[in-house]
Amino acid sequence: MSIIYNESNRIFHLQAKDTSYVLQVLERGYVAHLYWGKKVKTSNLSHLLQFKERAFSPNPYPYDLSLSLDTLPQEYPAYGNTDFRSPAYQIQLENGSTISDLRYKSHKILKGKPQLKGLPATYIESEDEAETLQLELVDTVTGLEVILSYTVYEQFNAITRSVLFMNKGNQPLKILRALSMSVDFSDANFDFMQLSGAWARERHIKRRPLVSGSQSVESRRGTSSHQQNPFIALLRRDTNEDYGEAYGFNLVYSGNFLAQAEVDQYDNTRVSIGINPFDFTWILGPGEEFQTPEVVLVYSDSGIGKMSRTYHKLYRTRLCRGQYRDRVRPILINNWEATYFDFNAEKIESIAKSAKELGIELFVLDDGWFGKRDRDNCSLGDWFVNRKKFPEGLEDIVKKVNDMGMQFGLWFEPEMISADSDLYRAHPDWCLHVPNRPCSEGRNQLVLDLSRKEVCDAIIKMVSDILSSAPITYVKWDMNRHLTEIGSASLPAEKQRETAHRYVLGLYRIMDEITRAFPHILFESCSGGGGRFDPGILYYMPQTWTSDNTDAVSRLYIQYGTSIVYPVSTMGAHVSAVPNHQVHRNTSLEMRGNVAMSGNFGYELDLTKLTEEEKGIVKKQVAYYKDIRHLVQFGEFYRLISPFEGNEAAWMFVSEDQTEALVAYFNILAQPNPPMKKLRLKGLNPAINYRLMDTDKIYGGDELMFIGLNIPELKGDFQSVVWRFKISD
Ligand code: DGJ
Repeated sequence: MSIIYNESNRIFHLQAKDTSYVLQVLERGYVAHLYWGKKVKTSNLSHLLQFKERAFSPNPYPYDLSLSLDTLPQEYPAYGNTDFRSPAYQIQLENGSTISDLRYKSHKILKGKPQLKGLPATYIESEDEAETLQLELVDTVTGLEVILSYTVYEQFNAITRSVLFMNKGNQPLKILRALSMSVDFSDANFDFMQLSGAWARERHIKRRPLVSGSQSVESRRGTSSHQQNPFIALLRRDTNEDYGEAYGFNLVYSGNFLAQAEVDQYDNTRVSIGINPFDFTWILGPGEEFQTPEVVLVYSDSGIGKMSRTYHKLYRTRLCRGQYRDRVRPILINNWEATYFDFNAEKIESIAKSAKELGIELFVLDDGWFGKRDRDNCSLGDWFVNRKKFPEGLEDIVKKVNDMGMQFGLWFEPEMISADSDLYRAHPDWCLHVPNRPCSEGRNQLVLDLSRKEVCDAIIKMVSDILSSAPITYVKWDMNRHLTEIGSASLPAEKQRETAHRYVLGLYRIMDEITRAFPHILFESCSGGGGRFDPGILYYMPQTWTSDNTDAVSRLYIQYGTSIVYPVSTMGAHVSAVPNHQVHRNTSLEMRGNVAMSGNFGYELDLTKLTEEEKGIVKKQVAYYKDIRHLVQFGEFYRLISPFEGNEAAWMFVSEDQTEALVAYFNILAQPNPPMKKLRLKGLNPAINYRLMDTDKIYGGDELMFIGLNIPELKGDFQSVVWRFKISD
């Protein structure tokens, strides 16, 4: 049993694998937070709450000066009735007041985990995997009721939370803020970790000590964004990769978000995360409901690595879905960096033919195959094949590629519309816009208004028609600008600030319907690279194009940072040409291969231009990856050396049964007369022996972990070594 309830003191003890999360309903119906951390036996923790009169912390009950919500750790705090810290929610009444007061009404403990309506979320495959606590709170003045849901996964150190708002009163309520969770820690001895960046340098790790006041990351771009990922962690000051406590918070959402930690006057820390209240309101009419996205809370008692591995396994097995969830992913060739918009059927055939000769399994036709698109300034929305480039039609090129023995994949950017498109000419009001103001463009394009049902239906039809027209087995779903002039022609004035969230809901419906209708297709999401690398999208599409930056050195940082939360099986990684198109760096084909082979492997260059020697290397890489991909995509991932801390990076993959491992080491710049170093491995079985593949060298698992492997002397910049081990018989 993962949720223990003690009726006498109304304490709920949620027990995940090695985690306890304890909360209590107080006498007056306030829901207090008691503890979250390493598993404890006792539930009796009410003594942790200390009631004491404090200056400038007012009292909801004037005769009880020891009670102030300002100093009470709470599960879902309000604003305006004595708590001055950041509230989890706020509603406005018809009379203009923004005060509400939620108190406990009832609760339920359920086996399993109910689905969230219209939103992506982690799931279960059998009822025994999880238990869910639903706490029902009510504001008696307005009739607002909320259900705080907590799901505890039996086998993971993960708890998920979300909130359902219900208007059971008879006046409309305006939701100004509806975060997915809030939790109060009784100290502030933490560092704040975030994954930040920009286009071409996504998810770089930033870590700083918490200080008094608020520290936050957020998106106001309409999508989760390259700039900030919807993830934060609190780390004890001495926590590192393998030691110390880590608390992770990851929002299963792809739109504007806010994630913050606030240190109060007594050094308590309040963490909250959810839809960004900035430019958001939601009108909740009588009888209506509003569901917040889910947040996945992960606790680790053994460093950041264990936190990451919990996210990896949970997301790989209970967030990603579909036929490809447990299937090895094909090695692909994508024509984008090989041709950009400049291609025709013959060129595509010639690249596909070379790819086939090298053992590649899937050809992906990127941007430029539709409408009259020869540049990025037209045709988005006109999803029919460009007959100038493919006179025989799409079916013909798909057939030609299939006949070569390769699968065929296609690029789309369905959420967008070009002003120069038939679709725009037919429906000029289908893009996001506000009255009397021009629409800003990004990459010469406008954003379709996915808050409108008819727009979503049209997208579903256009994409489905193409996907049904030929044996397409892979889709790259791109999204190349952020949202501006966010307004919808179909919503009344008072609902305009719902548009950004309605866009995300529309997107989820589109993705849900299309991925369900084409279960045999592997979908890879993309947003100018990794601009929407979030768990919301991963629920529909099990892999994401990690970054438009394919430079091997840049990718060390990007892939390392991404792995803090997201499994390797979700990261697309390609070998591209040199000098690299994004940073103009030259790295060897071996280095590019070893970095890309640490993800879902592919190539993105003109294979017809390779020398014979290069073709030989590519052929070997392709064959090698086929042999190791089960380990890379489904093994446990251990980070060994962080590129953010120096000139090297290293990581490894270990099979679940610990009989196989793959280790990759990267040295960025050559050092003069370097020291002789060892690389200590992780995650192996100390009791068994491992053979270094293609040699007769045998090492004990203990030896590899406690002493390490000799790193050979590497000459020149951008060098890499890969070692592969198997249990020795
Ligand atoms: C951005 C993507 O990230 C690229 O890989 C490529 O598909 C281009 N868009 C095409 O426009």
